[in-house]
Amino acid sequence: MTHHHSPRPATARRSEALSGTARVPGDKSISHRSLMFGGLASGQSRITGLLEGEDVLRTGEAMKAMGARIERREGEWIVDGVGNGCLLEAETPLDFGNAGTGARLTMGLVGTYDMKTSFVGDASLSSRPMGRVLAPLREMGTQVLDAAPGDRLPLTLAGPKHAAPISYRVPMASAQVKSAVLIAGLNTPGVTTVIEPIPTRDHTEKMLAGFGAALEVEIDAEGARHIRIQGQTRLSGRDIAVPGDPSSAAFPLVAALIVPGSDIVIENALMNPTRTGLIETLVEMGGSIEILNPRKAGGEDVADLRVRASGLRGVTVPPGRAPSMIDEYPVLAVAAAFAEGETVMDGLEELRVKESDRLAAVARGLAANGVDCTEGEASLVVRGRPGGRGLGGGTVATHLDHRIAMSFLVMGLAAERPVTVDDRTMVATSFPEFFGLMASLGARIE
Ligand code: S3P
Repeated sequence: MTHHHSPRPATARRSEALSGTARVPGDKSISHRSLMFGGLASGQSRITGLLEGEDVLRTGEAMKAMGARIERREGEWIVDGVGNGCLLEAETPLDFGNAGTGARLTMGLVGTYDMKTSFVGDASLSSRPMGRVLAPLREMGTQVLDAAPGDRLPLTLAGPKHAAPISYRVPMASAQVKSAVLIAGLNTPGVTTVIEPIPTRDHTEKMLAGFGAALEVEIDAEGARHIRIQGQTRLSGRDIAVPGDPSSAAFPLVAALIVPGSDIVIENALMNPTRTGLIETLVEMGGSIEILNPRKAGGEDVADLRVRASGLRGVTVPPGRAPSMIDEYPVLAVAAAFAEGETVMDGLEELRVKESDRLAAVARGLAANGVDCTEGEASLVVRGRPGGRGLGGGTVATHLDHRIAMSFLVMGLAAERPVTVDDRTMVATSFPEFFGLMASLGARIE
């Protein structure tokens, strides 16, 4: 494993009104799946708008190592897939870097193949729990040949001769676990069922259906989603236009709300209802977010967002909304630091197992910058200071977490004193254009 990493700090300073139009890069979840499903399907897939972040490129390398042909040609990604059931054994360990989605979904992908696959990653990924996907995979016949203590990376999987279909009720709100089981079902005879009591992002279901998988979704009387996939069917390559990532749009969006006088437009944001919890919450807080030109693109809802600086008020965020904004809590906490009154966020247990323990990282970062907040086991309460008076002046430990870095740089644009993050390099995992895009809107980050 070679994960030499020299941290590079960055500092954000109070900025003049942000203005202009920005187009956020492709959605990370859809980008991973585009390369994965394109690499698996028979025939060719052409992908436009792919997020060219490090996480996604690692998934592309993994698919190449298992036989797919993937090439970038004039801004498009051309993927020639192997055919469902036809992946080759990788000769060397698959290195997923910082990417939980890439690693976990690929475990599902290879777990039902009669071959060995080794997984490695950086220090952040190697500290994250993999047992949540290994548990259902073990039921399907996957063996975990070696793993670091607590089912962590590095680990090696060996699939069975014939996988067993299962019915699996996902015990936590996790699209990654749901997806890993459904993807494992692709190379399993019969019908694999995932029961999802709390709905999470539905990109795997939608996209697999688009590639021709036999998949059906039913909602029971309790509101749980039953997703059934027929294994060993043909998947066919297709063209995909990846919409802009709402989780990346979140950074310029919150920046424009808190920097006085700002007025910006963010183009081409994915508006899939399993992803729009942050917008809903910020509108409840009094944020001026206008949804312009709503349209369909590649089977998904997308829109442009006009965002104007707004006086925000604290709210209580319903815990049930968490799955639809799970990656946005760090930047919501930053918005809350500028709101009048208290913002209460609860149901945040999943934040503890992201690229870092995001609940702890956010609470410490806020405290280091003068924000009054209380961290609970699975909750965070932030008491804001409208205008950012007295805020800033601290250095934030980012713990190899891109979203912690970007969130606190956004904070520095409106705080009285500058905010420094100890490392900017991880931003490239999900949003390589972040610094250029923010500068084009007038943000002072260096
Ligand atoms: C993702 C699912 C979420 C999210 C991650 C991407 C996906 O993780 O945090 O950034 O693409 O399926 P969980 O499903 O583990 O909550």
